[in-house]
Amino acid sequence: MARNTRRVARYIDSLLRGRRPPRFEPDDEELAALRQATAMSTLRDGVDTPTAGFVSGLRRRLEDQLDGTGNSRERWSRRRVLSRGVAAAAAVAAGIAIDRGGGLLTAPQSQELQPNQAAWVAVGKVQDVSYRKPLRFGAGGIEGFVFLSAGELRGVSAVCSHQGCLLQYRAQTMDLECPCHGATFSSSGELRSHRLLSAPAPLPTIAVRQRGGDIEVRVA
Ligand code: FES
Repeated sequence: MARNTRRVARYIDSLLRGRRPPRFEPDDEELAALRQATAMSTLRDGVDTPTAGFVSGLRRRLEDQLDGTGNSRERWSRRRVLSRGVAAAAAVAAGIAIDRGGGLLTAPQSQELQPNQAAWVAVGKVQDVSYRKPLRFGAGGIEGFVFLSAGELRGVSAVCSHQGCLLQYRAQTMDLECPCHGATFSSSGELRSHRLLSAPAPLPTIAVRQRGGDIEVRVA
């Protein structure tokens, strides 16, 4: 088993057993695997259940990333994940970000993502953002949007706080829509509508600043 496969497997195993997972610095592959694991781990039979295609796609991607031999099929069966009732495994389930510099971060009460060892990173040009046209970025393990509102730049997570699907911007209504179960959020991250049994949390905000003509966000 490759080193990164072992690390992800150990992490998720700990969650399945209700233990505190070991901290590590995920690379891109591990980050993707953890996201898929999180989405799977938050599924509940009969509650907020996504389509069969969505579930099988997640499962396939997770299994491919974890173990090309198929040995993981038993260990990561949906039934086992569901039976354990595991809460969010990583960033996506509750608007949490993965910090490559120090393991996993939970979203603080302030609702602003505050990665450890964070740095300001340029993600675009100010001229590329307008009232109706946000900037979509991915940097340092954080997916987000930068909106221009009342003359100010504002950052918000692009990861749905329900089960971690990536949100899409709708120009007509100037809000963010989740392609998985239809929740919608305002450009400041507030929940606008949903059809779930319980309301998902607001989206975490992301620190943004302007440096000359650049837009910078604070990421891990
Ligand atoms: Fe379910 Fe977004 S993942 S509403």
